[in-house]
Amino acid sequence: MSVSNNLDINAALEILEDQVVQCVGRRLSEAEIIVIKGAWEGKDYKEMASDGGYNSYYLQQKIAPPLWNMLSKVIGNGVKVKKIYLKNILFKLAQKDYVEKLEFSEVENEQLIGTTLIYGQLPKIKSFYGRENEIQYLKRRITSSQETSISLIGVGGIGKSSLVAKLVEEILTENSDIYECIIWKKIDACSSLEELVDGLIKLLKLKINDGSESLQRKIFFLLKHLRLRRHLLVLDGLESLAQVENFEKKIEYGKFLLQLVDVNEQQRNFIIVTSQLPLEEIIEVDTTLLISSIKIQGLDQNAGIAMLREKGLYGESCKELIKAYRGNPSELKAVAERIYRFWEGDVEKFFEYKTTLMGQQLQSMLNHQFRQPGLLNDLQKNIMIYLAERVSEELASIPFHKIVEGMKKENASVSTSEVIMALEVLEQRSLIEVTKQSKKQEITYNLQPVVRKYILVDPLGLVYKNFKVSINGLKVSNHIQE
Ligand SMILES: Nc1ncnc2c1ncn2[C@@H]1O[C@H](COP(=O)(O)OP(=O)(O)O)[C@@H](O)[C@H]1O
Ligand SMILES: [Mg+2]
Repeated sequence: MSVSNNLDINAALEILEDQVVQCVGRRLSEAEIIVIKGAWEGKDYKEMASDGGYNSYYLQQKIAPPLWNMLSKVIGNGVKVKKIYLKNILFKLAQKDYVEKLEFSEVENEQLIGTTLIYGQLPKIKSFYGRENEIQYLKRRITSSQETSISLIGVGGIGKSSLVAKLVEEILTENSDIYECIIWKKIDACSSLEELVDGLIKLLKLKINDGSESLQRKIFFLLKHLRLRRHLLVLDGLESLAQVENFEKKIEYGKFLLQLVDVNEQQRNFIIVTSQLPLEEIIEVDTTLLISSIKIQGLDQNAGIAMLREKGLYGESCKELIKAYRGNPSELKAVAERIYRFWEGDVEKFFEYKTTLMGQQLQSMLNHQFRQPGLLNDLQKNIMIYLAERVSEELASIPFHKIVEGMKKENASVSTSEVIMALEVLEQRSLIEVTKQSKKQEITYNLQPVVRKYILVDPLGLVYKNFKVSINGLKVSNHIQE
């Protein structure tokens, strides 16, 4: 049922009265309430008068005109409130109220939105652009009842969490009683399954005996509880748990996710996972059967332009900027703020400086990838460095055979299949980009400018750290640390 369907007149009146009190400093009178209720039910003034014990002339001539004027100011938003539009306007008002409460949940940690209980903190969405297709697509998949889980994969800052938050917001405003609760678990502070399970138990305020239970008992307890309520569970940022080289851990995580998905099959629950790393790198089960993945790309041109305009940028080159930063909203935000500050919003002027600016979110993702042992092996790093050194404005991408040759020259024992596997992992993590113009043309690879800059600058000295393979090229040898 949608907000509109389950919004009754008393709930609408409550929301309206709050607004009237805030704006005009008084409550609605009895006669005004009769007119509002009558308008809601589509009655004429005679019917309102006979229901409420008033004179119809009094309601129509004395109460209604000043009431519509006052409501136009309070809730009209530029539109004149009239009897026939009132119901529609009140629906919109109620929707807005739902959304505000949803955002408020960041502070409250547990909120009732309509009939849905919200556990956890949804990211705040101030200005949100584009993503209409993604949202429609995800809504269809979530409500299709064919699936019970989905994962959104993409680089840091590409907008995964914001997209899911917007999706949840839309689901709730359009369909407020589809789930009994929404559980939003941000995983970035968790480094083990136990921490994640403890975090979920705490978030749901479950009482478990003395807290010294085994992990298995806690999982059993959590799953039992989850079975009781129709829920939408968001696991946001699963990459934090990743221990790519630890087979046991990967099995443990896989088993846990499988159990969560099993819970879903019994009710119409749904799980959404967001991750920077493809799930098959984090969990060890057949993820294609378990949970299907969607790769999240940057914002499209229109959404990007709208975002840059809001930041005060102008000029035809805005399109170039969106392309160069691959529509990544966090990168665009970071670069736009600096263009506004240092070049007064003139994008053309910024391009004259031929520089690439890096934002925080993508940088911290790259820091994590290069810092955590096992996440990128030497060959994968080597390929990235190789591309960073060779890709330039003139040479936009490097053909596959050159990369294989280059890697074998660095290290004779590297096989072609190892290079292929490394390229595939890098591509899945969106660390390198692939272009293939036509079926007959050889596949080529490149780096987006921000990633290239990160490698060449190596801001934290992580790219070349503990990196034993010697690499040709001046820049690299300067950086190598033993
Ligand atoms: N569609 C969008 N419109 C405007 N800003 C966005 C959009 N998507 C993301 N952002 C902004 O970009 C930044 C990164 O988004 P986030 O959802 O945290 O990315 P991720 O979860 O993929 O790391 C945030 O500051 C967010 O407000
Ligand atoms: Mg996120």
